[in-house]
Amino acid sequence: MTSNRNILVTGGLGFIGSHTVLCLKDAGYTPIIIDNLHNSRIEVLDALESLMGYRPVFVQGDVNDAAVLQGLFEMYRPEAVIHFAAHKAVGESVENPLMYYHNNVVGLISLLEVMKAQGCHKMVFSSSCTVYGEPESVPVKESTVTRPAASPYGATKQMAEVILKDNTWCEVQCLRYFNPVGAHPTAKIGELPLGVPNNLIPFLTQTVAGIREKLTVYGGDYNTADGTCIRDYIHVMDLAEAHVAAIDRLFITQRSVAVEDGDPSTDKFEVFNIGTGVGYSVLEVIAAFESATGEKVNYVVGNRRAGDVVAVWADTKKVNQVLGWSAKRDLSTMMKDAWNWQQRC
Ligand code: WQD
Repeated sequence: MTSNRNILVTGGLGFIGSHTVLCLKDAGYTPIIIDNLHNSRIEVLDALESLMGYRPVFVQGDVNDAAVLQGLFEMYRPEAVIHFAAHKAVGESVENPLMYYHNNVVGLISLLEVMKAQGCHKMVFSSSCTVYGEPESVPVKESTVTRPAASPYGATKQMAEVILKDNTWCEVQCLRYFNPVGAHPTAKIGELPLGVPNNLIPFLTQTVAGIREKLTVYGGDYNTADGTCIRDYIHVMDLAEAHVAAIDRLFITQRSVAVEDGDPSTDKFEVFNIGTGVGYSVLEVIAAFESATGEKVNYVVGNRRAGDVVAVWADTKKVNQVLGWSAKRDLSTMMKDAWNWQQRC
């Protein structure tokens, strides 16, 4: 769909944000980026310019800064917002919950207040499978009951969904991500290694690159086939493309919404699981990486990590049918692209 509509992308220089900026441009939208560079670097803008053929509009700022947001809305009149800007590490949120509640919840409220004042009533929201807590069954559907989050990070996403659903003036596509991994096939953008990685794949690739001595597998005694936790890993490019499909849907005036009992979706607040529908254990991911790259991963099996759920992966029927989207890239491609990116870092 070519539309040249301005789309504000908060956290647009981040891992998922930067890949989504690319896909928005390819779909004919005009991305406008705001990012506080807390978890990204300005060099990502140079990489985006080389990939996009022009330098996208970038404003350095925080969604908690209403004055910056107001100026941005008055200048660019975005017709929708994709809200990525948030902290996202489960383990880190256990150590620093207040930072997570302030950035992820207060930041959302600040953004919504400016959107309402500026007459922008469409949002794609970056939610998470962590809202399911330890799911009662897998694969999880949008109607799967959400249990108490296993981490403050997951709690901030649960609160955000309640806030968005209650603000019925705003039309929301709420995307519950699973585990984003990989990088753009050119390896010009990827998951930036800022500090010690919390997530599995960047820690794994840094270990293979010799930056880390060894990977610790957090727990080998879970009630799974090989004792390690299971997750639904999704290529960041597939995830980015899902955001464009959600933006497209927001501009369809008549959206019919048939939902299962228990699905919190309404005609103003639509929830979708964005995963591949396949779960892999940590040991399976390590084996897939070694097979895809020919590299050896130096790992040990250690203690469990606080905040981890045992197993979660997506039932993707709803997003396949309603958004017409499905993941196209397999685990081997995710591992190859993650490794190519690491080698350029
Ligand atoms: C994955 C598995 C760890 C590091 C992520 C994001 C969160 C959300 C959901 C979007 C777990 C194990 C990890 C390591 C390990 N995504 N692990 N050694 O916790 O599932 O959450 O996806 O909202 O934003 O953080 O991802 O990569 O940290 O862990 O064994 O050094 O790998 O125990 O089983 P997680 P993760």
